[in-house]
Amino acid sequence: MKIKNICCIGAGYVGGPTMAVIAHKCPDIKVTIVDLNAQRIADWNDENTENLPVYEPGLDKIVLSARGRNLFFSTDVEKAIDEAEMIFISVNTPTKTYGLGKGMAADLKYIELCARQIAAVSKNNKIVVEKSTLPVRTAEAIKNILDNTGNGVEFQILSNPEFLAEGTAIDDLLNPDRVLIGGGTDTKGQEAIEALVEVYANWIPKERILTTNVWSSELSKLTANAFLAQRVSSINAMSELCEKTGADVSEVARAIGMDSRIGSKFLKASVGFGGSCFQKDILNLVYIAKSYGLNEVADYWEQVIIMNDHQKRRFAANIIKTLYNTVSGKKIAFLGWAFKKDTNDTRESAAIYVADDLLFEQANIAVYDPKVEEHTIFRDLDYLATRKPEENKEGVTVFEDPYEACRDAHAIAILTEWDEFKQYDWDRIYHNMKKPAFVFDGRNVLDVEEMRSKGFVFSSIGK
Ligand code: UDX
Ligand code: UDX
Repeated sequence: MKIKNICCIGAGYVGGPTMAVIAHKCPDIKVTIVDLNAQRIADWNDENTENLPVYEPGLDKIVLSARGRNLFFSTDVEKAIDEAEMIFISVNTPTKTYGLGKGMAADLKYIELCARQIAAVSKNNKIVVEKSTLPVRTAEAIKNILDNTGNGVEFQILSNPEFLAEGTAIDDLLNPDRVLIGGGTDTKGQEAIEALVEVYANWIPKERILTTNVWSSELSKLTANAFLAQRVSSINAMSELCEKTGADVSEVARAIGMDSRIGSKFLKASVGFGGSCFQKDILNLVYIAKSYGLNEVADYWEQVIIMNDHQKRRFAANIIKTLYNTVSGKKIAFLGWAFKKDTNDTRESAAIYVADDLLFEQANIAVYDPKVEEHTIFRDLDYLATRKPEENKEGVTVFEDPYEACRDAHAIAILTEWDEFKQYDWDRIYHNMKKPAFVFDGRNVLDVEEMRSKGFVFSSIGK
């Protein structure tokens, strides 16, 4: 079966870039991305690509190449479902904030809503592809809902987890290490897998397209993120030991990274990992393990999260301790709010938690981030619900200019590794700060010796 018409539900960080690349590479396939959020769709359709809702290097060119040709953004969910032979589900699956599994299990209400809507609208057979990261065996739940529509329509469910990292999404999609497709082991399941393989084969060599059963595919995504997050927590655990002993964590990372069995990636010590996936997926894994009574397995993976929480808290505690045990009424400038560079996504960013700890000590926080908007910063803090929105407004000011954010500050904290921070006129920043001028580099972006020679009291993770 050759796919001619694809629909994707959810125009977010995953759905948007993924479908834009499919449309760009497959001019014969009509790709329609739908979303409940009308403003989001309007932003995707904006003439000015500066206004796209997702910032991602190279995304604007890909969107411009296909939009209006075979790539469409729409709020008409039903029409898009009806017309498509293949439907991707790419809606968010946040960690549950209520009820059973609160703080751990994935909230699948949006997925279920999508399944019910697909069931209600479909008049002919369809392939439904899970793109959102879902706990193992979700496909079964989706299938149950779809199979009980009573109108004779047949559905095949595939799992096609996303491995793109934000900030490098376009390159990851154009040249993926591998594409993973899980599906049914019967003939119809295999045909559905083949249909999706053919879509990707338009630009990806076949040997990099792996096919598995649905459960292996779902679990592989959680496993990949758990392994990556574990590496970051492992090097972060060593960073604290380095600080106590005089070793330099970057040197340690370099030395062990050259061991080809270990490899050099995901060994950057930091103020802690963030993003929409690591924490959520590991908590999911922990929850699944617990639900099978595998308590040691659950505890093992949970420790990765505990280490990450410790790293964020330790960074804030060090700022407070160094500033003579009080930050009350002091201006602390935050350079960076995004969970990593080259994205405007802030979900689970370490900056949110560091800010929360400092606000608890009555600091005044001045934030500058090159791509994150003011309303996002307040949304993140309000979402924590540790204090009233008015109090967040009182404690935090967002600046458009980094030099103004740092003016008269007692300390600067670097929370995101944006390249532009290296280019700043640090002499000018020093001149306008309160003395002693403290800098806490949570991302190892600045050179220790150079910053100290300019007069800063400088500390960096793991050094
Ligand atoms: C999300 C998940 O976080 C991730 O685990 C998964 O792998 C892919 O989906 P992301 O694309 O980054 O990732 O989420 P987000 O940017 O929040 O986009 C989801 C979109 O779905 C939003 O625009 C939301 O409005 C939309 N949505 C949600 C619907 O259109 N319908 C719904 O019922 C729910
Ligand atoms: C991750 C996975 O890499 C991707 O495959 C999956 O599909 C989604 O989750 P992403 O969340 O976009 O992607 O970012 P990633 O580059 O993995 O970084 C996650 C967090 O770890 C960031 O906060 C990053 O700054 C931090 N990190 C990463 C470190 O602190 N040190 C490192 O060495 C690497």
